[in-house]
Amino acid sequence: MNSAARAVNIDDLRRLAKRRLPRVVFDYIDGGSGAEFTMRENCRIFEAVTFRARNAVARMDCRLQTTVVGTPIALPFLLAPVGSSRLFFPRGECVAAAQAGAAGTIYTLSTLSGCALEDVKAAATGPVWYQLYLLGGREAAEGAIVRARDAGYRALVVTIDTAVAGQRERDVRNGGAELVSGNLWRMLPHIPQLLARPRWMLDFLRDGGMMKFPNVVIPGEGVMAYEDVGAALERSTVSWDDMGWIRDAWRGPIVIKGVLSSEDARRALDVGAEAIVVSNHGGRQLDCVSATLRALPEVVEAVGGRSEVLLDGGIRRGSDVVKALCLGARAVLIGRAYAYGLGAAGGAGIARAIEILRSDVVRTLRLLGCLDVAALNRSYVEL
Ligand SMILES: Cc1cc2nc3c(=O)[nH]c(=O)nc-3n(C[C@H](O)[C@H](O)[C@H](O)COP(=O)(O)O)c2cc1C
Repeated sequence: MNSAARAVNIDDLRRLAKRRLPRVVFDYIDGGSGAEFTMRENCRIFEAVTFRARNAVARMDCRLQTTVVGTPIALPFLLAPVGSSRLFFPRGECVAAAQAGAAGTIYTLSTLSGCALEDVKAAATGPVWYQLYLLGGREAAEGAIVRARDAGYRALVVTIDTAVAGQRERDVRNGGAELVSGNLWRMLPHIPQLLARPRWMLDFLRDGGMMKFPNVVIPGEGVMAYEDVGAALERSTVSWDDMGWIRDAWRGPIVIKGVLSSEDARRALDVGAEAIVVSNHGGRQLDCVSATLRALPEVVEAVGGRSEVLLDGGIRRGSDVVKALCLGARAVLIGRAYAYGLGAAGGAGIARAIEILRSDVVRTLRLLGCLDVAALNRSYVEL
């Protein structure tokens, strides 16, 4: 039995990931921006919501199925876009897509992935969404959109909270930018942390070493090399005005990710978003914005049922999933919860993360006395 199989909760997987990954990679997953206030608050806020259970509701079966953007899924959570997953485990994005499908849910592929979107689609065993950054400019983005459409991705997730990259202080201290600079002198002081994880190092080299961004093909230049993501994002800011040409190129459902206010929710509706993700990027962008669970009711009210509302940020337990659904989310996205699993043990780690959350949702629903995720509402929680 692998060690991930013995993990009881997501925090166990986090510890295993910390053991297998070099510090710079683990902290890239685990860290947030600034003082990490928002990142901590995303998790902490779930503690401020308590359940109002209905006991002695005897029935064994639980319904976890829901539909997001027209796609039926077996679980009320899906896998969020997590860039550079290939650094966590060989062919990380392909591995994650396969595990999501096996569990009956959706995998969202980040623009900043190390595996080509066609390869991820081929490895996927269920529905996949594509998350868009305008990296490399409009033409490069249009190229990726057409490729994603042709490959059969079901929805385009446009992330709007990355005008510039957040200042992730752990990445700065760990030499994240230096390690991808290609300059040996700059890299040298930070290399020992990689050598301290020989098992990861071997996997990394076997998988081809430093990944590129195969989904960003820059006209006249070719596939974008891995570089400091912060600098790249700064050159690729998306605005509401871009949604017109993005929609024309995509011709399918659009999901707007990074909404925290009624103002942005209305703008997302104006551009015809089929779904909105209440997200602060897992506390990795603007520090001190509100925790997503706190922002959720405002967005749900502004949307008024005209679009689906999803949430991500801080989901570490099944009870967190249930609380978000009670407060109006149709489903949630998980980021670090599965990224820790991938970093800990590849596919087996992701499978364990999903199973931990799934069984916890089932247990929570049965103890709560509400056996269908579609029947959850505010009466089951106290704020
Ligand atoms: C390591 C890492 C990489 C991420 N990369 C992306 C990305 O490429 N695109 C994106 O829209 N969001 C990205 N996110 C944000 C996630 O999609 C999601 O919003 C966040 O992880 C949710 O919070 P949680 O990690 O607490 O579940 C990333 C998050 C992490 C942890």
